[in-house]
Amino acid sequence: MTVNVLFVCLGNICRSPTAEGLFRAELARTGRVDDVFIDSAGTGAWHVGKAPDARAIAAAAERGIDLRALRARQVDEADFENFDYILAMDESNLQDLAMLKPADFEGELRLFLDYAGGSTEREVPDPYYGGEEGFAHVLDLVEQAAQGLLADIEQRHLSR
Ligand code: 4NP
Repeated sequence: MTVNVLFVCLGNICRSPTAEGLFRAELARTGRVDDVFIDSAGTGAWHVGKAPDARAIAAAAERGIDLRALRARQVDEADFENFDYILAMDESNLQDLAMLKPADFEGELRLFLDYAGGSTEREVPDPYYGGEEGFAHVLDLVEQAAQGLLADIEQRHLSR
């Protein structure tokens, strides 16, 4: 079986593509590429079709992750049929997703940082209007949650 994971932020050009790229690298590192399908989307439509923000691309490249091929899209209701995990970067994203969520969705809709065991932060802050350090901070937070997320997927879906 394949487990389907969707990372969601506001624009789908900074945080969620960073999470997608980094988590894909984590899957490669652990030999799980064929077990987990990942994608990202934004609650907003402003950047649909665009590549990630140049600052997100540069920050990820410093850690050996290539985001250049990713393209933004907007989240929609069908995502709730196709994904087992829908993971929001902040509370505002989570609220927007809760409004879209059909009553019969049985997957996980929650904050991505719920999987970052030791992290004291609950949200991945929006780096769009800030400096480059905000993008490095996004990567630090995403790194903290990636292993916990993979462990949850393995335990709940891939262990049989
Ligand atoms: P993201 O960052 O949600 O992490 O992709 C943003 C990108 C664009 C905008 C806001 C946040 N914007 O308002 O255009």
